[in-house]
Amino acid sequence: MTDTFLADILAGLIRSPKTLPSMYFYNKAGSKLFQTIMQLPEYYLTKSEFEILDTQSADIYKDFNPSNRFEIVEFGAGDGSKTKLLLKEILTHTEEFVYSPIDISKSALKGLDKSYKVELPKLNMNPINADYFSALDGLKSKSTTKLVLFMGSNIGNFKDDGELDFLKSMRANISVGDHALIGFDLKKDPRVILDAYNDKSGVTREFNLNLLKRINAELGADFDIPSFEHYPTYNPITGEATSYLISLKDQNVRIDNKLFHFEYGEPIFTEISKKYSDSDISKLALSTGFEIVNNYYDCKHYFVDSLWRAV
Ligand SMILES: C[S@@+](CC[C@H](N)C(=O)[O-])C[C@H]1O[C@@H](n2cnc3c(N)ncnc32)[C@H](O)[C@@H]1O
Repeated sequence: MTDTFLADILAGLIRSPKTLPSMYFYNKAGSKLFQTIMQLPEYYLTKSEFEILDTQSADIYKDFNPSNRFEIVEFGAGDGSKTKLLLKEILTHTEEFVYSPIDISKSALKGLDKSYKVELPKLNMNPINADYFSALDGLKSKSTTKLVLFMGSNIGNFKDDGELDFLKSMRANISVGDHALIGFDLKKDPRVILDAYNDKSGVTREFNLNLLKRINAELGADFDIPSFEHYPTYNPITGEATSYLISLKDQNVRIDNKLFHFEYGEPIFTEISKKYSDSDISKLALSTGFEIVNNYYDCKHYFVDSLWRAV
């Protein structure tokens, strides 16, 4: 892991503009900070999706309508606090399924495993510590009917239309009639969106800066943390909410005996969180080999969990 981590960080910092991969946000401290973010008043995403799963899980199960034994595979499961609502509902109908949460973060998976064992003791669980693309291969080997979960707006975190490649690969690894439930954050008042990444209490700022702390701690780098600042933006045309870390002075940072220069005001791109319209979602399903079975919205129409069937 450290080797790939180092290689990915070095590769990101020689690019122009400099980038750091968002999947490395989630060490123990990062996963904990994200749990705090989910509770913030400004972070509507979790509340909206929670409401959807709290009120519409029975409809989702009815629309999925599995005829025999099936498997639920969740990509980027995190702490599973929302998925639990759907799994609870499904367990009232059947226990004849396996739930495989996949996450690159060991600590997130450990937390999920611990809480599900207590709260959903009848759940047959198979946690997998892997990244999305390597886990996609594993889908193919399974012959059972599948429901793939990709919740919490994780779909919005790909750069350069990477969600198209991910969904196409997912489709190539499942069979006609298998389903995917995907959580999309919807385009809305740009101020509501920007506030979600710029909370007053500064937790999102901490979360972004924690990436530099992690690189210092695990790769022996010497980022001077107070010399970088969190900077979120939202572009209502592209639907991209983007977070940067801005260098507050002209400075050098040493990582693995390599020196990186940061100019005053230079950004490091750290995260993208794309927002979609209903028509964006329809186009995405159509172009990746799926049809939309149903869309489940929260009451404010901020978020949608979209159930797709592979065609
Ligand atoms: C924003 S959180 C959302 C978690 C959960 N889906 C939810 O809705 O609460 C993203 C999760 O995806 C995981 N993740 C991010 N990039 C990943 C990747 N490339 N492969 C596997 N897991 C990844 C993170 O570790 C984190 O737990």
